[in-house]
Amino acid sequence: MCGIVGYVGSKSAVDFLLEGLYRLEYRGYDSAGLAVQQDHQIAIRKKTGRVGQLADLCERQPVTGTFGIGHTRWATHGEPSDINSHPHVGGNGEVVLVHNGVIENYSILRNQLRELGYVFRTGTDTEVVAHLVAHHLFEEIKLGANPGEIKTCLRAVESALKRVKGTYGLAMLFRDVPGLLIAARLGSPLVVGIGRGEHYLSSDAGPLVGRTEEVVYLSDHEIAVITPHELQIIHRDAGTQTPSVRTLEQTTSDLDLGDFDHYMLKEIYEQPQTVENALRGRLDEDEASAKFGGLNMQPQELRRVDRIILTACGTSWHAALVGEYLIEEFARIPVEVEYASELRYRNPPLTDRTMIFAITQSGETADTLAALRECKRKGHPTLAICNVVGSTIAREADGGIYLHAGPEIGVASTKAFTSQVTVLTLLALFLGRMRNLSYPAGKRIIGHLRAMPEKLRQTLGCHAAVKDIAQKYYQAENFLYLGRLYNFPVALEGALKLKEISYIHAEGYPAAEMKHGPIALVDEDTPSVFVVPRSNIYPKVVSNMEEIKARRGPIIAIACEGDDKIADLADDVIYVPDVDEYLQPLVTAIPLQLLAYEIALLRGCNVDRPRNLAKSVTVE
Ligand code: F6R
Repeated sequence: MCGIVGYVGSKSAVDFLLEGLYRLEYRGYDSAGLAVQQDHQIAIRKKTGRVGQLADLCERQPVTGTFGIGHTRWATHGEPSDINSHPHVGGNGEVVLVHNGVIENYSILRNQLRELGYVFRTGTDTEVVAHLVAHHLFEEIKLGANPGEIKTCLRAVESALKRVKGTYGLAMLFRDVPGLLIAARLGSPLVVGIGRGEHYLSSDAGPLVGRTEEVVYLSDHEIAVITPHELQIIHRDAGTQTPSVRTLEQTTSDLDLGDFDHYMLKEIYEQPQTVENALRGRLDEDEASAKFGGLNMQPQELRRVDRIILTACGTSWHAALVGEYLIEEFARIPVEVEYASELRYRNPPLTDRTMIFAITQSGETADTLAALRECKRKGHPTLAICNVVGSTIAREADGGIYLHAGPEIGVASTKAFTSQVTVLTLLALFLGRMRNLSYPAGKRIIGHLRAMPEKLRQTLGCHAAVKDIAQKYYQAENFLYLGRLYNFPVALEGALKLKEISYIHAEGYPAAEMKHGPIALVDEDTPSVFVVPRSNIYPKVVSNMEEIKARRGPIIAIACEGDDKIADLADDVIYVPDVDEYLQPLVTAIPLQLLAYEIALLRGCNVDRPRNLAKSVTVE
């Protein structure tokens, strides 16, 4: 949800700003803009649309300077338009800033500032912050402060932020202090990159890769005062902080498309490798269990846990549903899966034996973070299953497990889902072996997990069949996705993938539930995708297929290799390798990801940048 970049140093700012914005574009692509400072002039270029359009504008109207800020927008307040694009100007151009987040009391503040004579030109909440900082700058100057001093600007920012309610990641330039970049964080991530005689700022580490390996993640209520040679961090309550410098582990090749046309396809194809990464070093053959480096909980504490809450949003929530089935089956611990957006405002009765796991690819999802904080505040052990190293949730959780899937850039989540399911399988095995899962059962699970990367490689062989099927159905306007037990969350995930990138209405259901309403949608133009690999309830799912067939609904079946019978009933079949039931989501998710991808392409959709979406949902 909006991406921010900043640079102060001796190189051309615009080069880094544009490169950084391209890398952050997945966070929002309604508009893009930048501001570059040279001496006491700040030049702004901004434009509705993608970063490429901003780059064209900068070519037609070049800007020079070695200090700057940039922004790629996912609109919250104010429609996507040139005028509403960031950066925004405060006062008479004394302050120029970009913002990620939502200012909840913007309307009250705007009225107060209007009464003081400030003129608002945009429909955004952000412009309020720009004028507010300028206003406090004028107040400081009235009291005799020097407008050209860093401390004057800092005091103005501190006073302004005290009046703001909501969330923000902010980056601002000051006309009268060239080379000063002030950043502030509450709820929206920011990371500072440290170079030689230069500093970078970004919403996530992506733009810093290849520029520097040393980074400092800002925490909530921190303000960073950044100049080419200095970085000072001040916490609202705790005062000046010693920056905690971390090393970046990503490389630029993680961010390249390689031979693929889209990040989504690249990430689908990475899954044999990313599942292998999730398993690496975590299979404990001696104990027939799993091992994790960062849970930060003693076996005695884990043994006491008698209830687990898995909380997440979107695709991660679907992975959590698979986790519920896995943990309950292997470890016999009751599990509830909660939408983070609900959990954060609910007050469910939890005991001191309840453990919370937040599941998140980005580690920045606002609702998931808020749910984690709420549970932490109540004193529960809060852990995270997270992909992005150093993300807010990864840092705030008491412990956790990284996915090690590498950056997921396609807006539709693919490899994160299979990595999350893999980690949840390991977790279920680990918790199970602490309870009543036998040694031979643990050994068997380990053996099956070891085989999964190869099974996923084989699964990708279905791509050609999926392409043909997509050709047949891409004009349908409604789809049903149906599966049972471990494949019910896969049905939900398949439907989500299709709707988010192809804009086709799709619903996922437990196959048997379809009779209780959704069957009314079935007709010859509404395909049903049945996830029906071999299982104990295979005949039951086949009966559900019969029910659809009787109503002349076309059927696409995801079935196990060797299941020839299914072709008698289904119009089209996509075969996947036969694996144990609890591992089926790993193989059955892949054809559904590919199906959504191929259909979206045929419909001319932008698969990596679907409309209205953003990768990292950092607003409520
Ligand atoms: C769907 C998708 C979203 C995310 C959701 C949670 O393809 O990407 O539904 O899964 O926004 O994001 P994370 O996992 O980053 O918390």
